[in-house]
Amino acid sequence: MEFNSHPATNRKETISEISNFSSKKVPILFRNSISEIPFTTYGTFAIYKYPAKFIPQVIAYVLKNYAKPGMTVFDPFAGYGTTGLVARVYGYNYELWDLNPIIEVIHKTATLKRSVIKIQNLIELLEELKKSKKEFIPNWSNLNYWFPKEFLPLLSKAWGFVHSLSEDTKYFLLIPLLNITRYFSWSDETVHKLYKSKYSRKKIENLLKGNWKMKFYRMLRDEVLKLFNKICEYEKLNPKSVNFKIKSGVDTLETHLEESVNILITSPPYLQAQEYIRSTKLELFWLGYNEDYIKNLSKKEIPYRDVKEIEIYSPKYHEFREKIKENHLRILFEKYFKAILGVFSNLGEKVENYMCIFVGPAKIRATPIPIDDIIVEHLQKFGWKHEITYIDKILSRVMFESNINPATGIKDSRIKTEHLVILRK
Ligand SMILES: C[S@@+](CC[C@H](N)C(=O)[O-])C[C@H]1O[C@@H](n2cnc3c(N)ncnc32)[C@H](O)[C@@H]1O
Repeated sequence: MEFNSHPATNRKETISEISNFSSKKVPILFRNSISEIPFTTYGTFAIYKYPAKFIPQVIAYVLKNYAKPGMTVFDPFAGYGTTGLVARVYGYNYELWDLNPIIEVIHKTATLKRSVIKIQNLIELLEELKKSKKEFIPNWSNLNYWFPKEFLPLLSKAWGFVHSLSEDTKYFLLIPLLNITRYFSWSDETVHKLYKSKYSRKKIENLLKGNWKMKFYRMLRDEVLKLFNKICEYEKLNPKSVNFKIKSGVDTLETHLEESVNILITSPPYLQAQEYIRSTKLELFWLGYNEDYIKNLSKKEIPYRDVKEIEIYSPKYHEFREKIKENHLRILFEKYFKAILGVFSNLGEKVENYMCIFVGPAKIRATPIPIDDIIVEHLQKFGWKHEITYIDKILSRVMFESNINPATGIKDSRIKTEHLVILRK
């Protein structure tokens, strides 16, 4: 199956494309738009590599330009939970949903208070971890495929210890240990996908030649200290104490908003990706989730899952659907739009002010699909007015790191612009 991302567009092409679409498309560089958040990986906005994570500046831009005091923001495909972390900074209440239960761990870690623990206590905890006799082994039939047998006793002891800690201290160690566990696996930790590469085989070979136990504890300590610094950095943004709700492990297609919200801001799954659960599988197993639960989550991911029939009111949707000749690709296209458009029209009933939807225009075969225009056309039928679409150039938000598409042997053109659609009620 071949899905490519949007082709590289240079500045000139971007501008002409913009004027062709409509006058409501405006180029922007979100990453440079918010002076108080100096870079995209600032503070706890980057403590774990989650695929297709929002850069915090996108949410900050929306909140600074469209939100009013007392409003609640809602992200139904929240992933890492960036929306919540930024909402705290500007003092807005928030609600986050995601199929992936890892959101819970990331959120608890990213909002830790530095005052809860001293660095000295963290160092002592790590010493205790080294001596601990507690054990934990994930309930995963493929464990031996992903981990050299030599490392398992060490990992088991570290995880046994961390799982036994109280809520107050556990989150200072969990994500650091997740990151190191990934490094001590056969998987290539430089890509999101769970994948054995030439590099990762070499990595394990080299580890086994040296004092890997010492390296494990040293890396873990460095990760813990790095996290502590990031928590301090986030606190410099003066996050407020606000009300929030998190629903993890939920299917957005089958969940309803209990209370109204003001602004929905989200980036839905990509047309070509079913990467989220698969790419965090290793972490989910060590966190204690079992095989059946994880398989079930995978089955609910957009766009491969079955979806309810809905009428689609976008002429562009029908025009592009006609262009797709291959049956399986047409089915995928239909499932994708029925899923996301169904979600937005349903949830939109309880959104009082704005819907802000961030998408990367994808390609099916050689045809770029104008996901943003299709969303606008469909939602206009439900009373939403198109305020503006911001077009951002991606610098580092890379979804798939491989350059060559394994299906075609052709160099993948990567997504080079992302579109933020703003709709007003
Ligand atoms: C583009 S990512 C969102 C990333 C997010 N903006 C962030 O800052 O990390 C899309 C998310 O949709 C989630 N997802 C996919 N299918 C879903 C479903 N049926 N219900 C709920 N979430 C789903 C994935 O787990 C993924 O986290």
